[in-house]
Amino acid sequence: MKDRDFDHPDVVLVPHGPMLLRGAESVQDLEGRVHTVDRPVVALCRCEKSSRLPWCDGTHKVIPR
Ligand code: FES
Repeated sequence: MKDRDFDHPDVVLVPHGPMLLRGAESVQDLEGRVHTVDRPVVALCRCEKSSRLPWCDGTHKVIPR
């Protein structure tokens, strides 16, 4: 498989979990604050229950579906 070009982030939606972003440089939250991304892959909370929004902190695992 050819190496991929990460000019644009890759997005992976985890079932009942976060959205994984690979290759992103920043994330803007719901209040318009811009968070710099300093890791190759980050997990964004989709359940809105994380104590570290916009990042996933694993809380989605204990929320009843
Ligand atoms: S998706 Fe993981 S804490 Fe919200």
